[in-house]
Amino acid sequence: MRVDVLHGPNLNLLGTREPSIYGSATLADIERALVDLARGLSTPTRPVNVTCYQSNHEGALIDRIQAGAAGDVDAFILNPGGYTHTSVALRDAVIASALPVVEVHLSNVYARESFRHRSLIADVVRGRIVGLGAHGYLLALRALLGAENL
Ligand code: DQA
Repeated sequence: MRVDVLHGPNLNLLGTREPSIYGSATLADIERALVDLARGLSTPTRPVNVTCYQSNHEGALIDRIQAGAAGDVDAFILNPGGYTHTSVALRDAVIASALPVVEVHLSNVYARESFRHRSLIADVVRGRIVGLGAHGYLLALRALLGAENL
């Protein structure tokens, strides 16, 4: 089973970017924790592979979703960053992939500015984890592995 973890714009700055909101874990810390968890949850008959990717560019994220869906990706964990609130194109890519997607936000977007309350992918993803910091990514991986149809 292969899970692609996609991080949108400015998430490359995690660790130093507004740590009071986003925490102190870096993207490398999150990747390491996900890879460790995937190893722990792997079985001989179902190895779990996690690949992480970050881009500041909308089209690059869409290319990645399309390539994954056309290739051997089984599910996505997606934090689109600011594109969450603006990107019809990303929403279309999620729908076109026809794969399960868990939307993750480090911060509790509902406790922040009102423009962050709207997600253009909320109704087309399998589920959402919001406000639990870096741990949200690990919960998302566990959820996908427990999903009945995977
Ligand atoms: C975010 C929330 C977004 O509103 C913001 O633009 C981000 C990060 C989060 O993980 O909390 O870049 O997706």
